[in-house]
Amino acid sequence: MIIAVSGKGGVGKTVFSALTIKYLTSIGKKVLAVDADPDANLAEALGVERENSIGDIREELQRTQHKIPGGLTKEAFLQRRIHEIISEHKGFDLLVMGRAEGQGCYCWVNNILRENIDRLSANYDYTIIDCEAGLEHLSRRTTKDVDIMFVVLDQSKLSLNTALRIKGLAKEVDINFKKLFLVQNKGQNKNFEKEAEKAGIKVIGILPEDKEIMRLYSEGKAIIGIDKKAGAFEGVKGIWGNI
Ligand SMILES: Nc1ncnc2c1ncn2[C@@H]1O[C@H](COP(=O)(O)OP(=O)(O)OP(=O)(O)O)[C@@H](O)[C@H]1O
Ligand SMILES: [Mg+2]
Repeated sequence: MIIAVSGKGGVGKTVFSALTIKYLTSIGKKVLAVDADPDANLAEALGVERENSIGDIREELQRTQHKIPGGLTKEAFLQRRIHEIISEHKGFDLLVMGRAEGQGCYCWVNNILRENIDRLSANYDYTIIDCEAGLEHLSRRTTKDVDIMFVVLDQSKLSLNTALRIKGLAKEVDINFKKLFLVQNKGQNKNFEKEAEKAGIKVIGILPEDKEIMRLYSEGKAIIGIDKKAGAFEGVKGIWGNI
């Protein structure tokens, strides 16, 4: 099953992704974590070293002027290199998309993700994609074939607006999510819930503002190390119970 986590910048996408990965691995699921944010920090949240990325493969190809070794096709070469850069950890594997060439253009790495995600995710129970901020990934269609799209929002109206735009945008670019849910982060907001309901999108769960998360961040510790009794982790468990 492919899960994407999106939403406005800074709303808690990486926190929600990391807690989801903690939850799914704690119940014995095999997880592929995909950091699709060019400002990659999912590795830190998961407490592992960030290794090579798909962006690095692109650079490698550029350096070698696209000379593929050993008579491989470009596709076969990419598949092999992607396999090599997926790092293995306790309970989950991690694939980092990394930066793309130039500013603004993130196409190459996105294309590679799109072309390989189905094949890769077949080896796992769950693939969790921590998306770049905003909803650009929709028009690039990198998150087209996800089973569940979670859009995270916090207490800012702008984050709600981004979240509510997703349905219209998906329609525009002809994407049909199997399931689309909002995740309210940093505490309940009844007004936001009402607006979401009006727009026909369900708030599937609420994560409280959690001192434990603030503590982990201020001490530079990985979010995945959160106490299982912490409110935000309970919230994530509740969400998975509701699906
Ligand atoms: N439930 C929560 N309780 C307390 N602090 C939180 C909570 N969720 C997120 N935060 C804080 O909010 C900040 C942003 O969280 P996070 O990095 O997960 O957002 P993001 O959406 O992934 O951001 P970006 O768009 O930059 O990738 C972090 O400093 C984190 O500590
Ligand atoms: Mg993030």
